[in-house]
Amino acid sequence: MKILHKIKDVRNFVKEEKGKNKSIGLVPTMGFLHQGHLELVNKSLADNDITVVSIFVNPAQFGPNEDFESYPRDFNRDISLLKEKGVDCVFAPPVDEMYPENFATKVVVRGLTETLCGNKRPGHFEGVATVVTKLLNITDADRAYFGKKDYQQLKVIERFVKDLNINTKIKGIPIVREKDGLAVSSRNIYLSDDERKSALSLVKSFDVVQNLLDEGERDADVIRERVIDFISGFKNTNIDYVSIVDPETLEYKGLIEDKFLLALAVYVGKARLIDNKIF
Ligand code: PAJ
Repeated sequence: MKILHKIKDVRNFVKEEKGKNKSIGLVPTMGFLHQGHLELVNKSLADNDITVVSIFVNPAQFGPNEDFESYPRDFNRDISLLKEKGVDCVFAPPVDEMYPENFATKVVVRGLTETLCGNKRPGHFEGVATVVTKLLNITDADRAYFGKKDYQQLKVIERFVKDLNINTKIKGIPIVREKDGLAVSSRNIYLSDDERKSALSLVKSFDVVQNLLDEGERDADVIRERVIDFISGFKNTNIDYVSIVDPETLEYKGLIEDKFLLALAVYVGKARLIDNKIF
């Protein structure tokens, strides 16, 4: 497995492989790999001749009061997991390789970024869209893999890839969960044993919604309130948002007539957890 830190080395590697008619799959990550990431890797390995995994904790997508500095990192463990999987290349650039002095460009996606996490994390999706654009350009990937856990992120990426005519197929992968249902996340490491129990309130709230739908409830605000009450009933939870939106436009829904996305962001202790489900 090649471990590359320089953009030009990745470009050379990809050029050589493409010269041999090999297809390239890219799995962008911020490292501290878990089963969710590895599922994206499995998919890429199955679909492509060559799989490149990027590991880059992208400062541009963290707010000033967010956890960029303390974001969990374990490069050596990540490398051994990826080697074991049979990944061909890891791209792990230093920050100044991706953002050299005088860097001045941002990819801004309107509309889709103005709800849910976009409202709560100003500049976050600009940071994501900018870095993912760079990674797609650097690797010239045929396919790139993203998890549906970050549903809004996936939708934003699909949007700018289409808008900017980027020649990569974007693949969305279902949410990987622990046995008890908790969505796997790098930030779960912040949870104490008690908080881990409260963290289950997110996935358990899906049953609350399903029961209300089964009873015939169609008022999205009523359903939202019930979810808020349910999650607030667990210790150490602090709701950032509970939203019911259209799964494509991510716009607010008042009355449920069709498919909808329930999207949740909840602080459990200091961990900000997200989860979602389409009903
Ligand atoms: P990161 O949080 O490391 O996640 C990398 C990828 O793994 C994302 O596409 C995310 O949706 C996916 N993922 C995380 N947990 C998952 C789970 N439980 N099930 C399925 N997929 C899961 O998301 C980012 O990094 C960054 O924003 C990035 C796209 C790399 C840009 O910096």
